[in-house]
Amino acid sequence: MIVLGIESSCDETGLALYDTQRGLLAHALYSQVAMHEAYGGVVPELASRDHIRRAIPLLEQVLADSGCARGDIDAIAYTQGPGLAGALLVGASVACGLGLALDRPVLGVHHLEGHLLSPLLARDPPAFPFVALLVSGGHTQLMRVDGVGQYALLGETLDDAAGEAFDKSAKLLGLGYPGGPAISRMAEFGDPDVYKLPRPMLHSKDFNFSFSGLKTAVLTVVKTRITNICEQDKANVARAFVDAIVEVLTAKCVSALRHTGLKRLVIAGGVGANRQLREALDAAAEKRHFKVFYPELEFCTDNGAMIAFAGALRLQLNPDAAKRDYAFNVRPRWPLEELGVM
Ligand code: KG4
Ligand code: ZN
Repeated sequence: MIVLGIESSCDETGLALYDTQRGLLAHALYSQVAMHEAYGGVVPELASRDHIRRAIPLLEQVLADSGCARGDIDAIAYTQGPGLAGALLVGASVACGLGLALDRPVLGVHHLEGHLLSPLLARDPPAFPFVALLVSGGHTQLMRVDGVGQYALLGETLDDAAGEAFDKSAKLLGLGYPGGPAISRMAEFGDPDVYKLPRPMLHSKDFNFSFSGLKTAVLTVVKTRITNICEQDKANVARAFVDAIVEVLTAKCVSALRHTGLKRLVIAGGVGANRQLREALDAAAEKRHFKVFYPELEFCTDNGAMIAFAGALRLQLNPDAAKRDYAFNVRPRWPLEELGVM
């Protein structure tokens, strides 16, 4: 069975073809980052309009790269939510329009389920059950995952998401958008002993997070030095920020593993691409004898492959999950726990 995946929940248009027998056949991505950079963040209306421009050329690209024809597609999976309403509507309408034209069933996929299952696309995939840390621009959650659709929330952020904290702190340092990769690179040159920032909720004895105070702490440091903050000082602040957030994320993962008694940890979402986080988790894994699984770097941030893959897994569980019902709706807010096995 060949599943076409369409991702358009935010500022990346991603399309992919996944074959349940042969694996990932092709994937293509267009990132709108350059367009939104001038505004310091995603402009929803611009995002929607750009998804319209990109979707069909990307479809042609994945068909050409895989050597498939449109008629070879057996089902179409699209991101139904959560995300920006207008952006989601573009992916949903392209999916349903294609479904109608090709007489193929369509299936709405939860964006976070796509992220959560993306490490299973890697060469060395984890077996169920595992603990998953989902760290993206909009979400920070620790989950226990027992199988496809079997997700139990252990804890989540009470305010800013981890990616949001990266982006906002980077903005305070004048590093542009999206700031995650930039602040991470800058931190490499920072002195870890110049600034000490708070580790919010490190000892809260639950699996929740809070990052808005950390961002405010960055603001306070930057404000006191705003007149002439030099590049080295920026790197020192970046280093202090990255050290703080990485320590909290790592410690909470370790205690979630201890609490569940599981030995496998999966990292998903854009912040999962972060080098310092990976190093800290790898070191903790070695010390405490658990194993960490990451998606391939290109599948950490938003992409169509994870949507095609999650759709394919859903359809293997339940072939009736995809329908020839092309009256679509999107779910900009959609808690992952509502999903169930379907
Ligand atoms: O999963 P994703 O592509 O989109 C959402 O679903 O939100 O995650 C995007 C987030 C952004 O906040 C971005 O700054 C962050 O992931 N990010 C990183 C890195 N690469 C992307 N944060 C820290 N270090 C990175 N290397
Ligand atoms: Zn995402």
